[in-house]
Amino acid sequence: MNKKIDTIKEIVKKELSSSSHDLEHTFRVFELACMLAKKEHTVDMEVVEIASLLHDIARVKEDSDSSGNIDHALLGAEMAEKIVRNLDYPESVVQSVKHCIQTHRYRGEMAPETKEAKILFDADKLDAIGAVGVARAYMIAGERGESIYIDIDLNSYMKENLLDGKINGRIKDISKHAPNVELETKFRYIPERLFTDTAKKIAEKRVVFMEDFFSTLKKEIDGSL
Ligand SMILES: [Fe+2]
Ligand SMILES: [Fe+2]
Repeated sequence: MNKKIDTIKEIVKKELSSSSHDLEHTFRVFELACMLAKKEHTVDMEVVEIASLLHDIARVKEDSDSSGNIDHALLGAEMAEKIVRNLDYPESVVQSVKHCIQTHRYRGEMAPETKEAKILFDADKLDAIGAVGVARAYMIAGERGESIYIDIDLNSYMKENLLDGKINGRIKDISKHAPNVELETKFRYIPERLFTDTAKKIAEKRVVFMEDFFSTLKKEIDGSL
């Protein structure tokens, strides 16, 4: 079994070779998902391992697609289905992995139904918050040329710059966005979206850390600290 997992790791490394942060994220999600799975009962560990390694396999394809039609969760599920089947895993494992990957996206239309899919969803979202979340948010902000902090009025920001005016809606104008705004419109709501008790507890602590970080940042910017 380990030999097959090693083969999957090599496939992932190759597919995400142009994106070191997607690859590093994948391995953190793998560790988090294994940790969460050990706290739950009757979890298929093999499915959790395979799905967490392959969950963002189509990320580079989505990011480099100028048409905006590629959904890495759906394409990734198809790619994973072929990879896992070619490695001679039973069809039940193939289908379980596929469901996990199809449903891992925060803004996705399909919801995780199995324990393994819920664990992958939770592990993936945990990696968006806490100290890692701050670091990742600033890597993305750097790529997009965002400010490090923007003062906003949340209600008018939601109306003006979020699609449908809803929390978690897609951002219309990235120049009006910054990592602290991401806390107000997304990160803060992650704990309530999670499925497992273990992940919820970790997420709550991680959000507190982010709130502290951004309030200290604000004080430093204002010259009061
Ligand atoms: Fe993803
Ligand atoms: Fe991910």
